[in-house]
Amino acid sequence: MPKIILVTHQKGGVGKSTLTFNLAQNISSNAKIAVLDFDLQGSLSQLKDLVTDFDIISFKGEIKSISNLEYDFIFIDTPPYLSNHLPKLVELADLIIVPTKAGILDLLAIKSTLQLIEQENKTAETLIVFNMIKANTTLTLDILIGLEEYNVKIANTHISDLVAFTRSVLVKGVTKDRNAQKQIDNLTKEIITKLI
Ligand SMILES: Nc1ncnc2c1ncn2[C@@H]1O[C@H](COP(=O)(O)OP(=O)(O)O)[C@@H](O)[C@H]1O
Ligand SMILES: [Mg+2]
Repeated sequence: MPKIILVTHQKGGVGKSTLTFNLAQNISSNAKIAVLDFDLQGSLSQLKDLVTDFDIISFKGEIKSISNLEYDFIFIDTPPYLSNHLPKLVELADLIIVPTKAGILDLLAIKSTLQLIEQENKTAETLIVFNMIKANTTLTLDILIGLEEYNVKIANTHISDLVAFTRSVLVKGVTKDRNAQKQIDNLTKEIITKLI
């Protein structure tokens, strides 16, 4: 059975597709990976022909059948709105990743996604990943206000705002930027540790 990692947030532009791509690319050297693209606007699906190290699938089938796909890890990228599929995808997931920027308004925007997750899945772990963190930002606890009522963890790894991430989907990831690659390696480790 594949381990299913859902990357979701009802807000656009938080880095769902970028993180999904980079995590999939990174793990693909050691495992068989698929990315299921549930965003009808395309995005990752449009890169299908450029990507050789893992499969990108515009999934149209029965959600439950995802568990029967023969991969080690399946990443699911989701659209920036509440889609009909989301409750079922949440139910299916072994791990749910919610990327967010670190502003107060960004964190307030996360709550509806967290509420939905808590309704649909009581067992999967939810990991908030801070993304697009600017240089010299210290993430102090005051920006976490209001999240303690949810059953979520915050990833120890923070992903910086780096040009390497913008380009990554065209050049097989961030291997050319040591700092970016280190961050993706660390995040990969955190994720794998939770799944095995
Ligand atoms: N860590 C990062 N550093 C710099 N740019 C980033 C980073 N993560 C995402 N981006 C850029 O931000 C934009 C939105 O990212 P995207 O992955 O498409 O978000 P989403 O899928 O949540 O809508 C894209 O232009 C992407 O290249
Ligand atoms: Mg996207």
